[in-house]
Amino acid sequence: MFARSAARALSSQTRLFSSSAARHTKVAVLGAGGGIGQPLSLLLKTDPLVSSLALYDIRGAPGVAADVSHVDTPSEVNGYAADKLDEALEGVQVVVIPAGVPRKPGMTRDDLFNTNASIVRDLASAIGRVSPKAHILVISNPVNSTVPIVASTLAKAGVYDPKHLFGVTTLDVVRAARFTASLAGTHPDNANITVVGGHSGATIVPLLSQSIHGKAIKGETYEKLVHRIQFGGDEVVKAKDGAGSATLSMAYAGAKFTNALLRGLNGEKGVITPTFVESPLYKDHGIDFFSSNVELGVNGVEKIFPLGELSPEEHKLLEACLPELKKNIEKGRAFVEGS
Ligand code: NAD
Ligand code: LMR
Repeated sequence: MFARSAARALSSQTRLFSSSAARHTKVAVLGAGGGIGQPLSLLLKTDPLVSSLALYDIRGAPGVAADVSHVDTPSEVNGYAADKLDEALEGVQVVVIPAGVPRKPGMTRDDLFNTNASIVRDLASAIGRVSPKAHILVISNPVNSTVPIVASTLAKAGVYDPKHLFGVTTLDVVRAARFTASLAGTHPDNANITVVGGHSGATIVPLLSQSIHGKAIKGETYEKLVHRIQFGGDEVVKAKDGAGSATLSMAYAGAKFTNALLRGLNGEKGVITPTFVESPLYKDHGIDFFSSNVELGVNGVEKIFPLGELSPEEHKLLEACLPELKKNIEKGRAFVEGS
């Protein structure tokens, strides 16, 4: 029994972390003491491409680091207290940011803006000062606004590199695969769904028509599936009943995206996944950031793929996405301009 479950755990770890190349990397987690930060730090400790983990939070990071550091993988782990942000960022190549408050029932992600905007801006400003070449992975919500906040903060400091900034939308991709697979009665690996747009409600646009299993889902079942992918976050917020939002599935998704980036940085070819980046795709609509399939490589963002063929339903979803996304991006930008 144990042998079977251990083998399954190992095989799912292999699926989460494939490592084809040798160069190892220092990764920082900012917000490592939180609901996402703790399991994310644990998962990153088990990623063979991470050589060193710097765990920072305004509360509790040294304790998390002491705990995680006992896991028997080769990477070293250091924890940094509130006044040690610059030390945590020294020499990092990748910074993952899950710092900030989560939603409670009845709130939208945009309702988090007032608190999280300044947290993310201040962290970005420290990254710009201490480790300006780092790749930055933003988890903190509202992602549609926090990514532009990081971009504008770094641009103000004269160190913005659009190839190094990513909004983590992997949880939408993970949910889309899981929900589609369970309807289709297949393994989620066979239901890889591209999700484009942004990361909130109507801005989340799953391209089900581009997957064999997704394409087969029609009518009311299709409408319900799209709604579940767009509002999967609310499902968790409601079930947690005031105790926060998705943390464990997000840690899984964050570790999965970090591993994809590390593989790209290490020279692996063909690492392609959706992520929210500065993108040319809808610049003519005044939208500078957009999530679509991106090839990750030694420079970070290597290639941004267009959406490909869309069904009439997906065209409608995209029409609903664009104006909201534009508002969210402008709000982030305006915040930094007014700071
Ligand atoms: P949490 O409250 O459990 O943890 C947040 C942590 O951030 C806390 O430990 C807190 O001390 C820390 N923090 C606050 N200010 C900080 C600062 N200035 N520097 C460093 N650390 C700081 O919240 P959580 O459940 O881990 O969620 C974190 C964020 O991630 C929320 O904004 C949430 O909405 C977002 N989120 C995003 C996705 C996504 O798909 N991108 C998914 C789930 C949650
Ligand atoms: C999610 O999609 O689960 C996260 O963005 C957290 C939230 O607020 O729903």
